[in-house]
Amino acid sequence: MTPTPPSTYTPTEDFVQNAHVDAAKYDVLYAASIEDPEGFWREQGKRVDWIKPFTQVKDVSYDFGNVGIKWYADGTLNVAANCVDRHLAKRGDQTAIIWEPDDPKDPAQHITYKDLHTSVCKMANVLETLGVSKGDRVVIYMPMIPEAAYAMLACARVGAIHSIVFAGFSPDALAARINGCDAKLVITADEAPRGGKKTPLKTNADAALSQCADAVQCLVVRRTGGDVPWNDARDRDYSKLSEGANLTHTPAEMNAEDPLFILYTSGSTGQPKGVVHTTGGYLVYASLTQEVTFDYHDGDVYWCTADVGWVTGHSYIVYGPLANGATTVMFEGVPTYPDASRFWQVCEKHKVNQFYTAPTAIRALMGQGNEFVEKCDLSSLRLLGTVGEPINPEAWTWYNDIVGGGRCPIVDTWWQTETGGHLMTPLPGAHATKPGSAMKPFFGIEPVVLDPASGDEITGNDVEGVLCIKDSWPGQMRTVWGDHDRFEKTYFSDYKGYYFTGDGCRRDADGDYWITGRVDDVINVSGHRMGTAEVESALVAHATVAEAAVVGYPHDIKGQGIYCYVTLMNGETPSEELRKELRTWVRSEIGPIASPDVIQWAPGLPKTRSGKIMRRILRKIAENDYGALGDTSTLADPSVVDDLIANRAET
Ligand code: WT7
Repeated sequence: MTPTPPSTYTPTEDFVQNAHVDAAKYDVLYAASIEDPEGFWREQGKRVDWIKPFTQVKDVSYDFGNVGIKWYADGTLNVAANCVDRHLAKRGDQTAIIWEPDDPKDPAQHITYKDLHTSVCKMANVLETLGVSKGDRVVIYMPMIPEAAYAMLACARVGAIHSIVFAGFSPDALAARINGCDAKLVITADEAPRGGKKTPLKTNADAALSQCADAVQCLVVRRTGGDVPWNDARDRDYSKLSEGANLTHTPAEMNAEDPLFILYTSGSTGQPKGVVHTTGGYLVYASLTQEVTFDYHDGDVYWCTADVGWVTGHSYIVYGPLANGATTVMFEGVPTYPDASRFWQVCEKHKVNQFYTAPTAIRALMGQGNEFVEKCDLSSLRLLGTVGEPINPEAWTWYNDIVGGGRCPIVDTWWQTETGGHLMTPLPGAHATKPGSAMKPFFGIEPVVLDPASGDEITGNDVEGVLCIKDSWPGQMRTVWGDHDRFEKTYFSDYKGYYFTGDGCRRDADGDYWITGRVDDVINVSGHRMGTAEVESALVAHATVAEAAVVGYPHDIKGQGIYCYVTLMNGETPSEELRKELRTWVRSEIGPIASPDVIQWAPGLPKTRSGKIMRRILRKIAENDYGALGDTSTLADPSVVDDLIANRAET
């Protein structure tokens, strides 16, 4: 008989002894952070170096119609100075970034804080030469190379606001983001090697820029040295411009509430929105969570496998770790190239202590077999982390047993692009963990479970509902770029007086939290967040498509897959070719991550008499769960449901 796995996992004595935060300290600090947020965050504000120290701490209103969020509002600072310059005296020769290239045969780079300083200053000077200054927007569309981090920090240094667009996004998606924030400059590279293939970034950028104002310049970093088209009027060669660039640069003095970056993310309706994070509070929060959640200690080697195109890369590859003077690994490749051992080889090679990745990667690697892990020496690992979607207990247990050798606490960190940093996670030296549970709120975070219908707070344990947060924290987003109304409507209107997360959650009998997934029309595919509305609008933009409805369905590796119901225009005939064409079409409209997994031809969609598509029913059919279709009596034509069920596509 196989022994039943334990339902909770306790950290080792050794781990607890050395941890920044143990159980007693968590209780004291958490209580203090809720009872006296001003006092708690005043103290934490000292984590960063201020040019002009703040006197105000918190200035927040969650009142719908009047939402305003400010932290440390009269302080001034510079993020790049905090992530680079202030470490020079003590750890100038320490490695700041270990860069691991896509191809393991190519050499890794160890970039010291001194090197980082020089590179960031150079790039800051180049940006200024190109006319970029305080408040200007710069779009970064780059491979995972050190220059991507330099670009972020150089923007922060001159006071420009960066907006990173994941290199897997299409030219159209890139163009929308360049135009959405009126960027002055796009920083890209010739090509992005990933998994042995090359994405033609510069060519994509050209295609995007053809839809943008002529004044937008394009700064090109050489990664592969491959031949790329060149337009003298627009394109600037980084290697040439940086040659003579000054090696020092005076960082701009920024207000705590000046925007640091914009990052577009998907919502339940409309096109992606530009989430705005500001300078002081964001840095305090990213730095505190990086240190405490991962129990980062001086000298550790820390690796977050995300891409800087997502918020995880912002907070936990670049800003959090570098603010703490950490050694952070930046990986250009993918988990399965050259083979499924790559992550573990990199851990062995760089003696990684903390490893942070996504459930989708864990599931994919788990499926390849244990030998890929077991042939590597993972004895340096002390802590494992996961992020991006709920992790199923099987994957959690495999991660714990096979990767962590049963000795590494797993932090299942729940947060969002909007939150800037972790809102719920076990603290590794303080909490016993449960496979699949995000466990406890971070300092200053007061989660509440609400009844979705009444909006009333559900108190007590062993309850389920929608997840809201009672009060603000310094890392919270401040607004939607150019659309503060949309910010208020999205997050503060459904449940008045709270921040609405869009997630459902359960508080179990012990008071621990389990995220149950989105309660809106956002799906999570391989940890990538997507609005079903975006995929729908891409589909209906195709000449043959009359109408489309998109839902998520459970997928073994990706967490959720993309299931599309498509109604063709009169006279169009369904075919395998058309199916393929629509897939390619969506990939080119949004990017490969939005590739439909399933397309079902739907002669009609289930609608109410007022014309609203009943997605609940479509979700059930996609999930292959017809028993639970619920009430269909309000449908204008209930027979469409029978047709959809009869012709359900295999998933
Ligand atoms: C959504 C946010 C935050 C970094 C990556 C994703 C889901 C995130 C977890 C977790 C269960 C999670 C939520 C959330 N999510 N982390 N540990 N357990 N669900 O950021 O793209 O803004 O997506 O991802 O549904 O709302 P994002």
